Amino acid sequence: MSVYPKIYVAGHRGMVGSAIVRQLLAQGHPAKRIVTRTHAELDLTDQAAVRAFFAIERPDQVYLAAAKVGGIHANNIYPAEFIYQNLMMQANVIDAAFRNGVRNLLFLGSSCIYPKLAPQPMREDALLTGTLEATNEPYAIAKIAGIKLCESYNRQYGESHGLDYRSVMPTNLYGPGDNYHSENSHVIPALIFRFHEAKVNQAPNVTIWGTGTPKREFLYVDDMAAACLHVMNLSQATYRQQTQPMLSHINVGCGHDITIRALAETIARVIGYMGDITFDPAKPDGTPRKLMDSTRLNTLGWQVKVGLEEGLEKAYEDFLKNYAVQP
Ligand SMILES: NC(=O)c1ccc[n+]([C@@H]2O[C@H](COP(=O)([O-])OP(=O)(O)OC[C@H]3O[C@@H](n4cnc5c(N)ncnc54)[C@H](OP(=O)(O)O)[C@@H]3O)[C@@H](O)[C@H]2O)c1
Repeated sequence: MSVYPKIYVAGHRGMVGSAIVRQLLAQGHPAKRIVTRTHAELDLTDQAAVRAFFAIERPDQVYLAAAKVGGIHANNIYPAEFIYQNLMMQANVIDAAFRNGVRNLLFLGSSCIYPKLAPQPMREDALLTGTLEATNEPYAIAKIAGIKLCESYNRQYGESHGLDYRSVMPTNLYGPGDNYHSENSHVIPALIFRFHEAKVNQAPNVTIWGTGTPKREFLYVDDMAAACLHVMNLSQATYRQQTQPMLSHINVGCGHDITIRALAETIARVIGYMGDITFDPAKPDGTPRKLMDSTRLNTLGWQVKVGLEEGLEKAYEDFLKNYAVQP
């Protein structure tokens, strides 16, 4: 019998799932003890297929990084898909994991689970204390249900079946494998794309929506993957010191935020764009500040490794290699 657990990474071709696989390999986990399936091979919304997969593979651990993910635009147009697919995927995976003897599972949520007006920085106990942001409410409700699925299975089957299902809530992530599709991308890939284009075309100016004053937090995706392994591998006693049975999720952030203006200037510097950056205050700013309180995770012994500028350099390298139109 192998000393290494058999690990299923759901969503291994996504930005986070692929970083988790990289991190497992980097930490010496043998590739043959990692199980993956593409979306085409296994549709996680299909309960029968998910049950059959778990019955055959019988993994020891699961990282649940598969999800239907998108920006404000997609969340607005396809709310039914966002709530239905995410609820189905996580319910199918968590229940099939339980039925097939998986003791350790890590569910990935998102900072959008917190109320729109949650005090900043947002602590884990802000969950379910207020109204959610309307634009991604269906997605957020699915993610909250994912946390509650893990907690409920632990409460009902933890003692009898040795179940220990945990949840992590990442802040905004960026890095290799990001989505550069212009309509639907997050702020960092969108700015990398725009500044790269402006540099190639020698555009004298790049105009950015809003005043540039809102502050946001960003984490390099390999740091996120390292945090996932860290949380998965904590002893139960240590994990329980920082969590409660019905307040069990853990925030994952770098602990500080940056203005959109400073972010844009950093990205321009990393890319080597020499033109002007202007802001269009007539366009909406969004919420002034969104920062996670990651004290729980830091108390559990995890620290950020990759600074913003270093992370952006790596992200741009990946963009040039895999996404930029070659001249
Ligand atoms: N990216 C961020 O900034 C961020 C921030 C906070 C939280 N998160 C969380 O981190 C997790 C992963 O996000 P990500 O950025 O890595 O997303 P991603 O790049 O879109 O990856 C998601 C993966 O899930 C797969 N998937 C979707 N529907 C599926 C289905 N029905 N059956 C099987 N596989 C399916 C996708 O495969 P296909 O592409 O083939 O459909 C893709 O490989 C999500 O839970 C997300 O909420 C991400």
